[in-house]
Amino acid sequence: MTISHFLADDLQSKSQILDLIALAKTIKGSPAEYSQALAGKSVAMIFEKPSLRTHVSFDIGIAKLGGHALYLGQQNGKLGERERVSDYAKNLSCYADAIVARVFSHQSITGLAEHASVPVINALCDLYHPCQALADFVTLAEQFDDLTQVKLAYVGDGNNVSNSLMLVAAILGVDFTLACPEGYGPNSEMFANAQALAEQSGSKLVLTHDASAIGAQDVIYTDTWVSMGDDTKFADIEASFMPFQVNHAMMETTGATKVLHCQPAHLEHEITTALFDDEKYSIVFEQAENRMWAQMAVLVTLFANQ
Ligand code: NVA
Repeated sequence: MTISHFLADDLQSKSQILDLIALAKTIKGSPAEYSQALAGKSVAMIFEKPSLRTHVSFDIGIAKLGGHALYLGQQNGKLGERERVSDYAKNLSCYADAIVARVFSHQSITGLAEHASVPVINALCDLYHPCQALADFVTLAEQFDDLTQVKLAYVGDGNNVSNSLMLVAAILGVDFTLACPEGYGPNSEMFANAQALAEQSGSKLVLTHDASAIGAQDVIYTDTWVSMGDDTKFADIEASFMPFQVNHAMMETTGATKVLHCQPAHLEHEITTALFDDEKYSIVFEQAENRMWAQMAVLVTLFANQ
């Protein structure tokens, strides 16, 4: 498999995603066999926003592959302000063998990829969170033998995480329901793209604004109602979002057996503490761990092309 960057879910084919899932599981099963995969390689990691899982899972994942990670926070100001995104890309390409970037705008990701001479990995932007979606499907593949038989629902704010999840579900042929309050769904272009992909793979894609119409599901997924960089006040959205809270009652009504959350969790908002902590349903820490194996699979694949 060859990929030159990892920027957005809809730039990957079904076979590329399935290969990445399989490789993540293989690396997880025998990490020692990959301990030199990035030997002598350095990865520059730009973070315009806070991060716990992404930062740590990339840093430690790169170390497990024998490479070196460099964390770049906001000491150089916002991308594109102190210097152009293109110059950032060209300068980092002088030293680093790959760039991982968590940014406000997807344009910064495409700008980095356009001007860097090394692979660029999207570690979250306003539109996508492809590393998260890949880890999510690694997690689902561990739980269910046949992904095409899984019914997955994302309940809450339509955002970067739900966009990536929806696109990967559509590409892989997984039935996907997106339940979010009116006005908080995906943009029309993103949804139309996912619809076209779902049609190709033969899966169902449903968008509903009625929290009582989620239907029978195997897995419920949720994320924060207010993403990083969004200055919406919780008090202003609470009433519209509360019916979409993921809790034990929703698990029972839908028949879902597992709950996912990309974290950080805002307990008693998008998910109840009792459900988040309920080991019968919650696989959020398996999901968090799989961030690392999934990203290692992306890195190994990108460097295999070099
Ligand atoms: N939608 C969230 C994801 C955090 C991992 C955000 O962008 O803040």
